[in-house]
Amino acid sequence: MKTVLSGIQPSGQLTLGNYIGAMKNFVKLQHDYQCNFMVVDLHAITVPQEPEALREQSESVAALFIAAGIDPNKSNVYLQSHVPPHAELGWLLTTLTSMGELERMTQFKDKAEGKDSVGAGLFVYPSLMAADILVYNADLVPVGDDQKQHLELTRDLASRFNHRYGEYFTIPEAYYPEVGARIMSLDDASKKMSKSNPNPGSHITLLDPPDVIRKKVSRATTDSGSEVRYDPKTKPEISNLMSIYSQCAGVPIKDVQAKFEGVMYGGFKKAVAESIIGVLEPLQKSYEEIRQSGQIHDILAQGAERALEVATRTVDDVKERMGFLPRKC
Ligand code: AMP
Ligand code: TRP
Repeated sequence: MKTVLSGIQPSGQLTLGNYIGAMKNFVKLQHDYQCNFMVVDLHAITVPQEPEALREQSESVAALFIAAGIDPNKSNVYLQSHVPPHAELGWLLTTLTSMGELERMTQFKDKAEGKDSVGAGLFVYPSLMAADILVYNADLVPVGDDQKQHLELTRDLASRFNHRYGEYFTIPEAYYPEVGARIMSLDDASKKMSKSNPNPGSHITLLDPPDVIRKKVSRATTDSGSEVRYDPKTKPEISNLMSIYSQCAGVPIKDVQAKFEGVMYGGFKKAVAESIIGVLEPLQKSYEEIRQSGQIHDILAQGAERALEVATRTVDDVKERMGFLPRKC
């Protein structure tokens, strides 16, 4: 069976962008692949986190994975920090990564922009992400399209290692949703929807109550026209809402336009909000049950244990190939 790996950072409330861009595909792929879905807490600390908030968010993101429909008996759901080989392989791969490669990463440039002091962890973050993927020799990585460059670097590092030390790593492929690989901000369609945007109106979180969702969608920026037409270049705001509708209502994007022909923006936005609520209401109900049951700790322990077995083996192989003396036990 082929392997899938992906991760989401516990650095704030997850958004509808995380759901459409990544989590929805996690749920879809779990039936046909050996899947590993991680809460990437080691990545989250590349920007400052409050310890208590990090703990709460980590548990919350794990519970959201399960609430969204990931079956923890089929897939491994765990915290990155519970599987130390990620950090170890991250270091080994950092030594194969050039400064120039890291300097070109647009996520790094965006996050570092305007800051007086930038952590070195933020800079080497992509080598750790490469380790996350390569430590399981993952074939497929479901992500939103903002991760494209990181995936390319991962592929380059895998090839570089194979070239220097002999064929070992699988070269992974990215897996994007056909529609919604980049959900945009509700207040500015030139920026991606992000959990770290300080304006709460810019994004819908997976735990927003229905009335908040209705309000945020009704206030979403639109152009001054009135035609519900898919054209991301000239009508980015309406096209973004159409992508959201397409993914939440399960209607192909080409049919969304026909469905809303002659409908004004107000009516269309109401339908968009209801389609989101249709997805998030059951997810929120199951989230509450999971949190209250306390079962998440056992799920995470079981996921980490299974992941650790594979990851440890990979790091041992890699170290042997790189010339480390084995430890006698
Ligand atoms: P992050 O929240 O940065 O850890 O992202 C977790 C996953 O969600 C990654 O696969 C991202 O590509 C995806 N993602 C985040 N924001 C968006 C968005 N606005 N649209 C589509 N995918 C997204
Ligand atoms: N860098 C990803 C993001 O910001 C999160 C991530 C870390 C990830 N490790 C990963 C995604 C491995 C896919 C595979 O969204």
